[in-house]
Amino acid sequence: MAIQYLALSTLVVLYSLMFIGGYISASGLGLTCPEWPQCPNGFMPSAEYFVEWTHRLVAASVGVLVISTMVASLINKNSDMKIKITSSLATALVITQITLGALVIDLKLHAVLVSVHLGIGIFLFSMVLLTTLFAFRIAKMPIKPKI
Ligand code: HEM
Repeated sequence: MAIQYLALSTLVVLYSLMFIGGYISASGLGLTCPEWPQCPNGFMPSAEYFVEWTHRLVAASVGVLVISTMVASLINKNSDMKIKITSSLATALVITQITLGALVIDLKLHAVLVSVHLGIGIFLFSMVLLTTLFAFRIAKMPIKPKI
C-alpha cells in the first residue's frame, strides 16, 4: 500500500479508537471488562464487555498500523529525517499507550493514569497526523534514482 494511504488509514482508525475511549470514559464502562489482556469469557466478544472489547481490538489494530507505517517510512527512498522521527515516536507512544491501558485496568481507573492515557493519546494522534502530512509530501516527489 502507498505510504500516504497507510498513514491516513492509521490516522482514521486512531481517531475512531479515541472516540470509543471517550465514550467508555463518559459512560462509566471502564471496568466492564476487568481483566487483561482478555475479557473473562476469553477472546470472543460478548454483549457485556462489547465496548471495552472493541477498544482493545481497535487498539491492537492501531498498534499494527502504526508499526507498519514506521517500517514503510524507514524503507521508503524519499523519506526524510522528519517522517522517520514522527513515525518512530508514534511507535514508541503506541507501545507505551497499550501498556498504560493495561495499567489503567489493573489500577482500577486511577484518575492520574486515565489522564496520562488521554494525554499520550493526543500526543500519539499528533505524531500520526504529522506522519500523514509528511507521507503525502514525499509521495509527490519523483522516485530517486539508485545511483
Ligand atoms: C493506541 C492505544 C490506545 C489509545 C490511543 C487509547 C485512547 C483512549 C482515550 C482517548 C480514552 C478516553 C480518555 C478520557 O476521556 O479521559 C481512553 C479510555 C480508556 N482506555 Fe484507552 N486507548 C488505547 C489503548 C487502550 C488499551 C490497550 C486499554 C486496555 C484495556 C485501554 C483502556 C482504556 C480504558 C479502561 C478507558 C476508560 C477509562 C475511564 O473509564 O475513564 N486503552 N483510551
